[in-house]
Amino acid sequence: MGFLLKSLYGQLFVTPPVPTHDFSGQTVIIIGANIGLGLEAARHIARLNVGHLVLGVRTASKGETAKKDIVSTTGINEQSVSVRIVDLSSNKSVIAFANTIQAEFKSVDALLLNASILPFEFATTEDGVELGVATNVIGTFLLALLMLPLLRSSSALSGKPVHLSIVASEVHGFTTLPEKKHPHIFTALNAKDSPDFADRYNVTKLMQVLIARELAKSVDSDKVILNFLNPSLCHSNLTSTTKGFASFIVESFKYLIGRSTEVGSRTLVHALTIGKESHGQYLSSCKVEEPAPFVLSAEGATVQKRLWDELSEILERARPGILSNIA
Ligand SMILES: NC(=O)c1ccc[n+]([C@@H]2O[C@H](COP(=O)([O-])OP(=O)(O)OC[C@H]3O[C@@H](n4cnc5c(N)ncnc54)[C@H](OP(=O)(O)O)[C@@H]3O)[C@@H](O)[C@H]2O)c1
Repeated sequence: MGFLLKSLYGQLFVTPPVPTHDFSGQTVIIIGANIGLGLEAARHIARLNVGHLVLGVRTASKGETAKKDIVSTTGINEQSVSVRIVDLSSNKSVIAFANTIQAEFKSVDALLLNASILPFEFATTEDGVELGVATNVIGTFLLALLMLPLLRSSSALSGKPVHLSIVASEVHGFTTLPEKKHPHIFTALNAKDSPDFADRYNVTKLMQVLIARELAKSVDSDKVILNFLNPSLCHSNLTSTTKGFASFIVESFKYLIGRSTEVGSRTLVHALTIGKESHGQYLSSCKVEEPAPFVLSAEGATVQKRLWDELSEILERARPGILSNIA
């Protein structure tokens, strides 16, 4: 079955199982945990006896509201849930968040990089980067790399691999990254008049898949299991940025075939519990699946390496020496 048919089959006919994993004694961090799939994944993990849950959010009040909601619906002790601020679109904020976590926690058993945006109009960040690329790609991997040393030392403490999971999407298969025709892909993605901007969310999700695959090659899966997953089309706030006909189409599809937020969130929890067979792999409907054909093609391999090289330079500029965190 082709990639798109398989994705559609999962969407229509597979209901991810209710998570039953026991998170006792574990510290779990979820980025983008105040709403949507991140909030529902946090609720499952709170219900499943987590030792400590960190809600990584960009607005303190939204984080506190989510914490109250999780405490009241699961009965988890409120001391076991912390709200910490992180804005993935700001390098400064991501670095400050990583420093806070390293200072407060001697061990982290799972980090779920869930936050993303669906950019509908061109906008740039304080770092001068297009917002979608900044949030979904640069901020996401900046945080991943900053956290790797703590994740490795946590694995040494527990004697088991810990999890680093990225919430990607099946829409990585809806594009082949038109900006690859330019000599520098990240520079091309910063062009305000890009004719391909309607494709931007898909592009950032493809970039997540390619970069995560490349990073996974250098990460020891006996210590850190790095995987990326597709929750399928779900009800959430994600598409609230869309307007006009695009909004009509996406809302109609969600209404007709979308998973509920809670059901979709089960796939996020699953990624944090699956074993080494998921390292460097794409998960869909709670199974390791092949990613889109472009990812597996010779051209995809070349683009994967180019993206990694370009991103490495960007991350080194943001935090000199960061690449030495990888091994
Ligand atoms: N829903 C779907 O159909 C679907 C399908 C495939 C993949 N996904 C992926 O699933 C993940 C979760 O999305 P969702 O559907 O749950 O969307 P959502 O309801 O919009 O939730 C996104 C979360 O990310 C946070 N966030 C956004 N920008 C951020 C930033 N710069 N820094 C920190 N946090 C930020 C949001 O915080 P605020 O509340 O402050 O905005 C919110 O907590 C995303 O990676 C998305 O691409 C979703």
